[in-house]
Amino acid sequence: MERLQKVIAHAGIASRRKAEELILEGRVKVNGSVVKELGRKVTSSDRIEVDGVQIEGEEPVYFLFYKPRGVISSVQDDKGRKVVTDFFETIKERIYPVGRLDYDTSGLLLLTNDGEFANLLMHPSNEIDKVYVAKTKGIPTREKLTSLSRGIVLEDGKTAPAKTKLLSVDKKKDSAIVEITIHEGRNRQVRRMFEAIGHPVLKLKRERYGFLTLNGLRTGEIRELTHHEVKQLRVLAMKKS
Ligand code: URA
Repeated sequence: MERLQKVIAHAGIASRRKAEELILEGRVKVNGSVVKELGRKVTSSDRIEVDGVQIEGEEPVYFLFYKPRGVISSVQDDKGRKVVTDFFETIKERIYPVGRLDYDTSGLLLLTNDGEFANLLMHPSNEIDKVYVAKTKGIPTREKLTSLSRGIVLEDGKTAPAKTKLLSVDKKKDSAIVEITIHEGRNRQVRRMFEAIGHPVLKLKRERYGFLTLNGLRTGEIRELTHHEVKQLRVLAMKKS
């Protein structure tokens, strides 16, 4: 389900704001009836007309992107910083990221123009594993990593159990590389989890999203997901939600 003005905007007919005006002016019909409220939600099976002309939805597209550090997970930034869609200039569909990675986090990010798919993947009840590799300040003890695995209390509540693995330590630099697997998607969650055990994250990368990896991609590169991968992601999200 998507807001009517968003669907009109996605079809390339008008900006979101102009689409709202079209609705308020009574120029939009859904399944043959004029709709004048902005709260109306529609699905891909609803027939939408603007000034009597049926709109064609965009074909859904799905991409896997190796986000570099120093890029905002958004389609625009009022401070003029680089955003993820700057890497998709040749793609005409209005895509946006599925969830977000912090400005300073690199790694696997999905982008699509399919709102239902994005909502399904981002729904808090689905438990798709996301694997991160963190470089930490200091070397966490086994007990501290166990406390992350059990779930740790943050200001927005206790985290679900995570998996952690100490990959390497650098005693000279007093830092460690830790792999952590979580399925929640709270804001800055991994950074806050490591802060809570006294080992702030110096560098963070998302290496895996469910069964998807960054294999074959370099930073800043993109590939389209296969039909099969899209289907598998749907199954994965539905199974756990
Ligand atoms: N957790 C974080 O702290 N940052 C991210 O970008 C993703 C997960």
